Amino acid sequence: MVKDYILSLEADRWLVHADILVDRAHVVMLQERGILKKKEAAAILGCLAYLEEQEQDFIEHELPLHEDLHTAIESVVIRELGEEIGGRMHTARSRNDEVATCIRIALRNELLAMMRELNGLRKALLEKAAGHIDTIMPGYTHLQHAQATTYAHYLLAHADAFARDFSRLLQAYACTNLSPLGAAAFASTGFPIDRERTAKLLGFDIVLEHSIDAVSTRDFVIEAISCFANLMVNLSRLAEELILWCTAEFDFIHIPAEYATGSSIMPQKRNPDYAELVRAKSGTVYGCLMSVLSICKALPYSYNRDLQEVTPHLVRATKSTTASIAVMAAMVEGLDVKKAEMEKKAPVGFTAATELADTIVRKTGMSFRTAHKIISSAVPVLVDENMKLLTEHDAEHAAVAEILRQLDEIALSIIGKKLSEMGLTEKEVKEALNITSNIQKRKGRGGPAKKEVQRMIERRRGELEKDEKSRQEKEERVRRSMEELDREVKKKQKRRSIRVIKKPAPNRAGNEE
Ligand code: ARG
Repeated sequence: MVKDYILSLEADRWLVHADILVDRAHVVMLQERGILKKKEAAAILGCLAYLEEQEQDFIEHELPLHEDLHTAIESVVIRELGEEIGGRMHTARSRNDEVATCIRIALRNELLAMMRELNGLRKALLEKAAGHIDTIMPGYTHLQHAQATTYAHYLLAHADAFARDFSRLLQAYACTNLSPLGAAAFASTGFPIDRERTAKLLGFDIVLEHSIDAVSTRDFVIEAISCFANLMVNLSRLAEELILWCTAEFDFIHIPAEYATGSSIMPQKRNPDYAELVRAKSGTVYGCLMSVLSICKALPYSYNRDLQEVTPHLVRATKSTTASIAVMAAMVEGLDVKKAEMEKKAPVGFTAATELADTIVRKTGMSFRTAHKIISSAVPVLVDENMKLLTEHDAEHAAVAEILRQLDEIALSIIGKKLSEMGLTEKEVKEALNITSNIQKRKGRGGPAKKEVQRMIERRRGELEKDEKSRQEKEERVRRSMEELDREVKKKQKRRSIRVIKKPAPNRAGNEE
């Protein structure tokens, strides 16, 4: 049906709860300002209460019959109360400020929920890290073995990225929680409304002042989805590592059974589908961001119907992001770490090479670049001898001696001197090649040494607690406003039952608004 083209059902379903709140706050304020009579406000509020009780039937049966959510609610109110009373609900406002207000309320609530999930993920990462301070693993650059680190050190890197995501979401929250209500179509209204009052009743931080700006902008949507996109990059990178790490090639982790699936043909398979979908949903979210940017970029001020097309992308991006965070938190929590495998692979590929170069610099006083040259020329031999050193205990002494001999030979050809003559001993070579002491030497700020990682975990636990508290304060502020709105509504409303929404009158099938 051609008329269906204009519908926005998916997004409207997302907004029903917010719209009822907006209607309530608006009617309470209109009555307080003497724009509605007590009796009129009471009847409308009573009607909204029943509509809320029948929300599911309303969504299923009534909503699809109208141009959009706002006209659907108004139609029900008018149908029940008659136009003389019901027709007064929309005094001093437009669907333009109404919809912008609804989106901000719905998004604000989603942001609070998303931040809670994100803090859950941060906690899961910190707690997992706390249990793996001594779990040694190879660290990578270019996905090649680079230097050894610990699993705790590695997990904290991800936790830090998510901590920044949290700050970004807070910022997006601040930009979202502003009230456009009262801007009406774009030019405000001649009725003596009280914008501060509705803003307060609806839990907004402040009024979004300029009436044209208030109905025209969706920058808060762009900002929120940008934050989601950034967060999804971080989630997807973690997901990618989980996917790689549970392969036979890495064999570092075991994804919890609930987050793996079998194959319909290969009985042995355990596929990391959940992590794969986190990786895929990042693409969905970037697509939403691109869509919203493209929809908004050339719109003349103020409202254009194009803006309706923005909302479904916001809904999709929000739901995909929150769900992905929750899945990732659960996976991290249940992750089975193959400590022995990780440790076994930590020295492979001569990951101690950097420490050996550093040791040469410290002992002989030569420049790092020269030491780097000597080691990199010696690498083929060093890799083999290093493996002997690690695997064959009897050959340990011989291997260290061989490494120093090789280094001496190469140093002689490069700088004309042997390292052993410059103060480098076998003991120091052996020490440099010891992965565990290697890690403990990196005790500077941000490094993987045990004490430093413990300090970092403690500090991050404190930061997380603070962040969660400020999130809860926001939630609490909204809750208090909702209670106040509820109190005002209860004081003013007159309950009366309305006809069952399930069976709309036959002549309602068209969109006459
Ligand atoms: N459903 C519309 C939206 O989401 C509501 C606003 C309609 N306003 C208008 N002037 N046609 O944007």
